[in-house]
Amino acid sequence: MVDELAVASLSELAQRRSAKWRRFPAGVIPMHVAETDFALAPPVLAALREAVDASDVGYSSAEPELGEAYAGFAAARWGWQVDPAGVTAITDVGVGVVELLRVFTRPGDVVAISPPIYPPFFDWSPEAGVRNIEVPLRLGESGYRLDLAAIEAAFARHPAVYVLSNPHNPVGRVHTADELTALIRLAERYRVVIVSDEIHAPLVLPGAAYTPILSLPGAADVAVAVVSASKAFNLAGLKCAAVVTASARMAAAVASFPPDARWRTGHLGVIASIAAFRDGGPWLDQLLYTLDARRAQLGRLLRDRLPAISWHPPQATYLAWLDCRKLGDDDPQGLFLDRARVGVEPGLRFGAAGLGHVRLNFGTGAHVLDEATARMAAALSG
Ligand SMILES: Cc1ncc(COP(=O)(O)O)c(C=O)c1O
Repeated sequence: MVDELAVASLSELAQRRSAKWRRFPAGVIPMHVAETDFALAPPVLAALREAVDASDVGYSSAEPELGEAYAGFAAARWGWQVDPAGVTAITDVGVGVVELLRVFTRPGDVVAISPPIYPPFFDWSPEAGVRNIEVPLRLGESGYRLDLAAIEAAFARHPAVYVLSNPHNPVGRVHTADELTALIRLAERYRVVIVSDEIHAPLVLPGAAYTPILSLPGAADVAVAVVSASKAFNLAGLKCAAVVTASARMAAAVASFPPDARWRTGHLGVIASIAAFRDGGPWLDQLLYTLDARRAQLGRLLRDRLPAISWHPPQATYLAWLDCRKLGDDDPQGLFLDRARVGVEPGLRFGAAGLGHVRLNFGTGAHVLDEATARMAAALSG
């Protein structure tokens, strides 16, 4: 018997000083940035307490424990065999992707991405001195998925890199093994490197199965994954992610990161991530159970209170991509903020396909989701 994770009251949550709780004025329910409202997993809390109590807050030193803990986690959850030596700590996923882009691109190169997509995907290539080409996801009856024909056409223009989001933020799509296999074949044929952002992998919900790209035949030479405990275990502020490689070619790319990169990962982040990967499994099961319940609750609340809003329930993540076009307002985010005092992400930040959409974070308690949707419904009827 699994219990849902408890979530504190809104007034207690509002005491937090993280970005989520300071972005909007008091009284607004923040449901935008990808932080959750759950308390830390007990093994993570204990590891952090122990470190702080011992004044163990110097520079990080992740080897070999982070790689060993991640390899154990990957084997236990997905049957994926990871070589701990191929796991390199990095500040966060964004830094990992940008450093990889610096290695794999030359001035004038382009990088392919598939919007609607997590907004920093638009910024990472310029940060690395190159520009993006967009290959939008395809919207079908059952939701969004990779458009492999369009990706092939884009690969024929020889982008240096394709940055994949798996599972895909904001639509929650978990790409299938067949889709990823086809993507690997295209990458081999057109000599494109796949940088796979798999930060949401631990958040695949009941009903879907995650395929780590590096677990597929042929992937090791063309793909590199960037992973983190930070979304599932809500550790973003502690600054620790990891680049995972499975071939000499990709290991050499990571070995050529600037020497100082190793000093930029948070020590508490490493400690928390090791605890999460090593001992966080039972808590993560509880989280997934809770998010599955929240996803179902949101489905009911949208149907009953906000029938003009449509969605395809995500297969992963605690993010809901809501199609608000029937509301007839070009700025649904502004409408919900001003009239409902609910803060969501404006869809246009995720690309042109986000017009009339918002992204709502349901990584919270039933009471918060209930209150937020009640306010949104009242705003629309008022
Ligand atoms: C797909 C995706 N990649 C990366 C990040 C950011 O990760 P980090 O804080 O480790 O850079 C997020 C945060 O929500 C995300 O959704």
